[in-house]
Order: sequence, then structure tokens, then C-alpha cells
Amino acid sequence: MLKGKTIILGVTGSIAAYKIAGLASTLRKLHADVHVIMTKNATNFINPITFETLTDHKCLVDTFDRNFNYNIEHVSLGKKADLVLVAPASANIIAKMAHGLADDMLSTTVLACKCKKLVAPAMNTRMFENPITQDNMKTLEHYGMTVIAPAVGLLACQDVGAGKMPECDVLLDYILQELAHEKDLKGKRILVTAGATQEAIDPVRYITNHSTGKMGYAIAKVASQRGANVTLITGATQIEPYRFVETVPVTSAREMFEAVVSRADYQDMIIKAAAVADYRPVTVADNKIKKQDNDMNIPLERTDDILKYLGEHRRADQILCGFSMETEHMLENSRAKLAKKNLDVIVANNVKTEGAGFGVDTNVVTIISKDHEIELPLMSKENVANQLLDFLLSIK
Ligand SMILES: Cc1cc2nc3c(=O)[nH]c(=O)nc-3n(C[C@H](O)[C@H](O)[C@H](O)COP(=O)(O)O)c2cc1C
Repeated sequence: MLKGKTIILGVTGSIAAYKIAGLASTLRKLHADVHVIMTKNATNFINPITFETLTDHKCLVDTFDRNFNYNIEHVSLGKKADLVLVAPASANIIAKMAHGLADDMLSTTVLACKCKKLVAPAMNTRMFENPITQDNMKTLEHYGMTVIAPAVGLLACQDVGAGKMPECDVLLDYILQELAHEKDLKGKRILVTAGATQEAIDPVRYITNHSTGKMGYAIAKVASQRGANVTLITGATQIEPYRFVETVPVTSAREMFEAVVSRADYQDMIIKAAAVADYRPVTVADNKIKKQDNDMNIPLERTDDILKYLGEHRRADQILCGFSMETEHMLENSRAKLAKKNLDVIVANNVKTEGAGFGVDTNVVTIISKDHEIELPLMSKENVANQLLDFLLSIK
């Protein structure tokens, strides 16, 4: 995923320094070329040998180290880096970077880099809240660096508050958001729906379906990593929202309809991957289902057909894509939906195919448009998302 990408990890004198070993290892597994630069103070917290073993590169500490091949390292590394992450970033390095100081290998290299820079502060709450540190962080942002908000919690000094370095999976999300994909969807607004809707029968029970939201969440994440401005309207799921996607939770089909329709006009693409419950109980005057109707024979009415509405009210330049989950006659039924609902694309999948459909991390789909029918083999939902977005980009 990160093949061909060069990442500099800058590690400073904080107790959180040891955590970066795990991140360096993960980045290597994703095939990144990882270089670690430590401040001299950081070597009190973790030994450079740890990083050298994990990255296969000399861990740079001293700007004037003469003990390796002659090369002006801070400049040559600065030139080839695709991204710099300073984590943990001490109050000291933040102050130095904010003012352009270059008195050690890390601050000198940061100054020599033109690539994207991420900074993850880690320090005692009082140091973090100090207006000088706050101003320094604003200065970093002013110069285009991204400051990753620290977590709130119990700190190494036993104080509780803001200043904890976020866990490495959070730092990895930021790195992947920058480097995992080309930004070929930059400037596009994409609305995705995901998950299952729920229709209340009474305060305890509801009608729903088996959708877990994995397909829609994968599309939203990949589209965001490709640079799109993504809004995800989601029914109930167990999935953590992706931090770079605006996520709007809804419960019923009606709520999803309203959330989608109120945003539809502003979107370049709308991809409906949610499984909306097709029916809801007919409500009576007091808003409850009659007692005798429960369990046995609940009167039902159809919920709103979101795609059909969108197809009838669409902007001509907008791309409209639906998913069709079938148990039989998958292609014929999907082609009929494409035409009837005035869609550009429909993604057909058969719940009965192994590795496809609800709950699993893979899918087997056929992408159908008026002129194309592309049958994809079994692949991860993220790969399906990428192939689908490639196709949607190619059609208009
Ligand atoms: C045990 C210990 C833990 C420390 N943790 C932090 C920390 O989390 N954040 C921070 O800004 N400074 C921390 N410091 C202070 C820094 O190490 C100190 O300001 C140092 O000058 C930073 O140097 P550097 O930015 O060159 O690494 C800690 C010091 C000690 C002794």
C-alpha cells in the first residue's frame, strides 16, 4: 500500500517515544521506506538500535555524525521524503519548528523538507495548554503542517487531561490519508449511504436486515483517501466512523431519505450502499401498533425508495450509483433497476455467492451501466470500492 513512499519519523524526548517502534514496524509491513530521526533527548527513552533493526536504515541523531557515507543527510532525506511525522512531538520541538530553528538533525531536516508534515504533540497538560505552546501549534498550522489533536486521559505524570499521544492506529490513519492513494477525486463531493435502517414496531422491537455497513464504509474511506469530500449517511452499524469522513447517523428509512435528499443537490456522486428496510409497520393514531397486530400479522407499508426519488430529481451532471442485492436473476433484476430508477450505475451482488454480501470483508460484484457490464472476481470490499470509484470516474 505504501510501496515507493519514503516516510520520515521524527521522535523526540517524551515517554511516548517507545510507541513509535510499533508504528515503524507497521509502516515497513506496508512496504514504506522508513527513516527515523531522533533528538538526542529521545535516545534516553528508546535506543536507536530498535529503529535501525525495524527500518533497515541508520537512525539519525547527530547532524555532524561523520561515521557513515558522506552525504548531506538532512538535505538528501528532505528531498526524497513523501511525508514527515513528528511523533511524539515535545513542546520543545514544536517551539523550534514554529520558529524555523535548525539546531539538531530533526529540526534541520524538517526545515529542509517541502513534503507534507504531520505533528503529534505529546506532553503534560499544563505544557500543552500553555498559551505559548498553543500559539506555536497555530503557527505550525499556518505553515501548512497538520497538528494531530492529542488524546485526553491519564498521562505518564499521573495528571489527567489533554496531552497524550494518540494511539499508533490513529497516526497510521493520518499517514494513509495522505499517502495511500493518488488524489484523483480531489474537489469531488461524494455522498455514500451505508448500513441497515430500522423500523420500530414498538419501543422494543424493529424491522431491519442483515447489512453491516462494511461495503458503504469501505467506499467512504477509499473515496476520502482519494481526496474526495465525503459525507456518509449511515444506519445502525458496529463500525467506527472514519475520522476524515463527515458521518451522519440515522435510524429509519424516513430519516435516511431526508438526510440524503437534503444534501443531494450539492453532490457530484451519490452511491447508495445502504440496505434500507423495505417495509415499516403502519402506525395508528396513537403512534403505536395495535396490540392484536403484534407478533402475528403486522400491517406494513413500503418505505421511501431513496434511489428512485434521486433518479427522478437528479442533476444531469451528477453520477448516481446504487447497489442491488439479489438472491436470484441477479443480472436481469439489476439491469431492470438501473433503467427504472434512472441510475448511471448499479452494482449487483448475490447474497448466495460465497464471499459476497452482508457481514464479510470481501465481495463478488458485477458493475453494470448502460454500456458496460464488468464482472469482478472475489476481492476485499476496499478493492471493490477502488474499482467502483475508478469506473464512476471514467463514465462522465
Ligand atoms: C521522564 C520524562 C518525560 C518527559 N516527557 C515529555 C513529554 O511527554 N513531552 C515533552 O514535551 N517533554 C517531555 N519531557 C521533557 C523533554 O524531554 C525536554 O523538554 C527535552 O528538552 C526535549 O528535547 P527534544 O525536544 O530535543 O527531544 C520529559 C522529560 C522526562 C525526564
